[in-house]
Amino acid sequence: MPINISSTLEIPKTGIIPRHVAIIMDGNGRWAKNRFLPRVAGHKQAMDTVRGIVKACAEREIGYLTLFAFSSENWRRPKAEISVLMQLFMVALEQEVGKLHENGIRFKVVGDLSQFEPKIIEFIRNGERLTAANTNLTLTVAANYGGRWDIMQATRKMLSQRPESAHSFEEEDLMPHFAMSYAPEPDLFIRTGGEKRISNFLLWQLAYTELYFTDTLWPDFDARALDLAIESYQQRERRFGRTSEQIEVSSSTEGARRFEATEQA
Ligand code: IPE
Ligand code: IPE
Ligand code: MG
Repeated sequence: MPINISSTLEIPKTGIIPRHVAIIMDGNGRWAKNRFLPRVAGHKQAMDTVRGIVKACAEREIGYLTLFAFSSENWRRPKAEISVLMQLFMVALEQEVGKLHENGIRFKVVGDLSQFEPKIIEFIRNGERLTAANTNLTLTVAANYGGRWDIMQATRKMLSQRPESAHSFEEEDLMPHFAMSYAPEPDLFIRTGGEKRISNFLLWQLAYTELYFTDTLWPDFDARALDLAIESYQQRERRFGRTSEQIEVSSSTEGARRFEATEQA
């Protein structure tokens, strides 16, 4: 089965541990405010959480971890905060990519990089190249990413490669052009910080993802909190539009995961 096949078409082989966990790391500002610290202190603390969660995901043999670090809308924040976020990103790229490589982790960045400083883009590309062949965990950082941007850029790429698509195209024609076409769609989405919204994260890819919201602020999120999210995921029944009975038959019949139109009652 191709890795980027849409979960809306097939039942992915997810198993007990989610293959792909996607996280909106929210609540850094409030974490700092609660401690009478400037917001940026929360962003600094957030890096420790990222390290811990990357390690925890690798230990749990999760295949893909995607972290929303900066949205296309975050440019609306005060210039001083954006500047600190960029500096932290730069420092993290300098200090952490080597460690990721030592741990066999593949590093990727998705988003519209055109607005980043050339030095940051160079670090990103070098990090991606260095870690490209690693197989332990694929860590994707979404930076200046927006789900709408992704759908738009994928459509543009498809049309420029196959202008005839303007008349007619299928999901499968568009999907290879998404920024994360190398990964299966997320099985588990986590948002820390209490808000119950997607904030323009992976819009297309989250179509059938299990959603988990926690009030825990990102700097407080740890391996135990991750396990609670995974436990919640394990209690869900993923039906992808089908009935509970169909899912029971499919999981008990080896090799019968593909529901062709002709097989449906
Ligand atoms: C998430 O934390 C980090 C980024 C969006 C970069 P916030 O900075 O949004 O923290 P809150 O939501 O204000 O607490
Ligand atoms: C979402 O958090 C983006 C990231 C965590 C990078 P925000 O704090 O920007 O989201 P909203 O504005 O509350 O929706
Ligand atoms: Mg926020």
